Amino acid sequence: MKTQILLPTDENIQKAAEALKEGKLVGIPTETVYGLSANSFDESAVHDIFKAKGREADNPLIVHIHTPSMLEDFAEKPSNLAMRLIERFWPGPLTIVLPKKKTVPSVVTAGMDTVAIRFPSHPVTRRLIECAGFGLAAPSANLSGKPSPTRAEHVYNDLKGKLPYILDGGPCQIGLESTVVKVDGDLITLLRPGGITLEMLREVGEVKLSSAILNPVNLGQKVESPGMKYKHYAPKAQVILVKGEKRKVDEYIKNHAKKSDCVFSQGKKRGDEKGQYILYGATPREQAQNLFDGLRRADKLNAGRVYIACPPKDGLSLALLNRLLRASAFHVVDLIKE
Ligand code: TXA
Ligand code: MG
Repeated sequence: MKTQILLPTDENIQKAAEALKEGKLVGIPTETVYGLSANSFDESAVHDIFKAKGREADNPLIVHIHTPSMLEDFAEKPSNLAMRLIERFWPGPLTIVLPKKKTVPSVVTAGMDTVAIRFPSHPVTRRLIECAGFGLAAPSANLSGKPSPTRAEHVYNDLKGKLPYILDGGPCQIGLESTVVKVDGDLITLLRPGGITLEMLREVGEVKLSSAILNPVNLGQKVESPGMKYKHYAPKAQVILVKGEKRKVDEYIKNHAKKSDCVFSQGKKRGDEKGQYILYGATPREQAQNLFDGLRRADKLNAGRVYIACPPKDGLSLALLNRLLRASAFHVVDLIKE
């Protein structure tokens, strides 16, 4: 199958909606990362998502809707606390896990009795869902284990030949996948940190952090969010996180990076770096936008290692830390302890 990257004109969005109605897959832009979407009620199309990505069958998908009232098609009535989260953060990068309706095919939820729902803010995907008339099941549009795609060409590079269209909505504004939460009674459990930060969630209610966010998951361990079990976001190169005061981190990287390695830099290229320079950015916002593209660039440069300063645990940096711990398989050089 030939894969085309389409500009998001209304005509092209209609074309993509028709393809979805015929049971095909479409690459979609969102404010977080690009998704690989299918009609969530079309079991065979949803199976094709798992096949195209090489995704484990026990890892459930997020259903994307374009208006809160569409929630009724998939989930039981949300609790008051879940409603407060919805009112505060939708549309936007927050996914809420809710008790599912029986009509949702079990291939979408990997047999769980809950369904993850997200109302993205990206206008192209909202319009696409409106034209299609059904919710879209969509994981990130990368091959399983690889960094998530933040540009249409990333989707093309990973999945060409497996879908007719990718709608090009430009580079993703946030660059990291949505925050995923579950609500039980008065408690919000954070399953995956993202653009809606822990601090923002705490303004709405009490929040518990899932232990899988900052710790490895052991084989056979029961997890609240199956995605946490798997190797993730990893380029071919070994990612090394260096933790400590900025000056010491810079010095460590300067002394250790070889010519064949990549260095994620927070500032301008100085010219005296030994490793190959990748622009990461100075603020967590810029770093989130550049992270996955940078990891993909490191692969293109055939880097042996990728050196990155270890992010702190607050704000959007918690999401960066979560992705980087997994991308590095928890390889952290701790200069504070040394
Ligand atoms: O920003 C995003 O969320 C992107 C864009 C495309 O919307 N999507 C995305 O999907 O990141 P994916 O499949 O790569 O990650 C979904 C995560 C996985 O870790 C999965 O295990 C978890 O959400 N998840 C899905 N359904 C769940 C459920 N019912 N209970 C707990 N976790 C669930
Ligand atoms: Mg993913």
